[in-house]
Amino acid sequence: MSSLAPSSHPLILCADDTPEVLLIMRRALESTYRVETVDNGADALELAKKLQPDVVVSDVYMPEMSGLELLEALKATPDTQNIPIILLTGDMHPHTLVAGLGLGAVDYLRKPIGTEELRARVGAALRQRRTTQKLERSLTELEHTHGKLLETQTQLVQAQKLEAVGRLAAGVAHEINTPLQYVGDNLVFVREGAAALGELLQLYHRLANAALNVPELSEIVTEIDAFTSESDVPFYLEEIPLAIGQSLSGVRTLSEIVQAMKEFSHPGSREKAATDVNRAIKNTLTVARTEWKYYAEMEVDLDPDLPPVPLLVAEFNQVIANLIVNAAHAIVDGCGGEVTEKGVIHISTQCRDGFVEIRIRDSGIGIPPSVSDKVFDPFFTTKEVGRGSGQGLSIARSVVVDKHDGTIDFESTDHGTTFIVRLPLEVKRHRDEAVPDHAELIG
Ligand SMILES: Nc1ncnc2c1ncn2[C@@H]1O[C@H](COP(=O)(O)OP(=O)(O)O)[C@@H](O)[C@H]1O
Ligand SMILES: [Mg+2]
Repeated sequence: MSSLAPSSHPLILCADDTPEVLLIMRRALESTYRVETVDNGADALELAKKLQPDVVVSDVYMPEMSGLELLEALKATPDTQNIPIILLTGDMHPHTLVAGLGLGAVDYLRKPIGTEELRARVGAALRQRRTTQKLERSLTELEHTHGKLLETQTQLVQAQKLEAVGRLAAGVAHEINTPLQYVGDNLVFVREGAAALGELLQLYHRLANAALNVPELSEIVTEIDAFTSESDVPFYLEEIPLAIGQSLSGVRTLSEIVQAMKEFSHPGSREKAATDVNRAIKNTLTVARTEWKYYAEMEVDLDPDLPPVPLLVAEFNQVIANLIVNAAHAIVDGCGGEVTEKGVIHISTQCRDGFVEIRIRDSGIGIPPSVSDKVFDPFFTTKEVGRGSGQGLSIARSVVVDKHDGTIDFESTDHGTTFIVRLPLEVKRHRDEAVPDHAELIG
């Protein structure tokens, strides 16, 4: 039987096997609270689970389920464990009291019950419940804020680290660039010089042949012949142009790497700028080469007609680098840690529906369904310490989704995974955010 107090009022559940006691409790409480009464512990448990009362007042000795058993059962259920419970007892044996309080009862009342005392104790239990609820809410909020803070902090640290590494790399690239340039120029110079000297030697050779018939010159001609064969001159003549050609091609590769490093590590502007996505991807592949070249063949299929995309290029590069490193790791893991046969990483770009789509497919181990909704969580990793920190995809998502209004998803089977990044061609104007003029013109 329930009372008619408004549904906003606290609900008190009273359990006792003596109808008179229940009646006294109802009369004492129903002007202020909603009241439910039951005459045994089992019903009390069922009703408590269903109605989530704000306080339970229960007799200790009842049929079917005693007050102490009820108490224990309520405390064992997450939904009801925080409901304050007041025990009623006639004997007030210290043993019973200790057992009840030990199990988590907040208070006890001696029978026969005094109306005022009952109201006072229920009121106190309710106040305690409210304070606990407030604390729980604050704690949840605090945990949430803490989580956010941690995430922001990691991203800040990561951004700072990147900036520092970027600055160093840009500096090193710059330092290497100058000597590289004169090594290249000198090699071209030496190539021309060697060609001229080679021709001159041919002429000397003809001269020597002609001089053989001149007795006064035969000694020097013999000397020249001896020197020519002893010092492998014909071999040099043949090999020097090849050696110079190889060196020049090495210098060209170095220049490309240095250029890619410079572009990759360029701090970029704080605002989005029209970016050649294909070029950015190629730079990143060059710079991150050692991360994949031992484990994968890189297949690149970039749409040559891709329009420029408004991007924070440094952060975009980082996203691609993270996805490539993950793909390489997945290939290694797919081989049980030892790559005997290289896997494949396939990168493609494409323009569709106002988006540029970048797909990065690997032939790796795949993402099992059991973790697929966690991979973007900050700090989620299946890798050992040092190999993974669980931040790659969380940063990728924050860059793509939060900063570029794009999307990042994946499709996976146990034969591999494809990450799909979509970046809009139009910059969406965020509130309070100025959009640079040149970005507005894109698309
Ligand atoms: N291409 C992929 N193939 C298989 N699993 C992946 C791939 N990319 C990410 N994962 C899974 O997602 C997790 C989180 O990735 P990430 O955030 O980059 O952190 P980390 O690489 O440091 O572990 C990885 O530990 C891995 O389990
Ligand atoms: Mg990673």
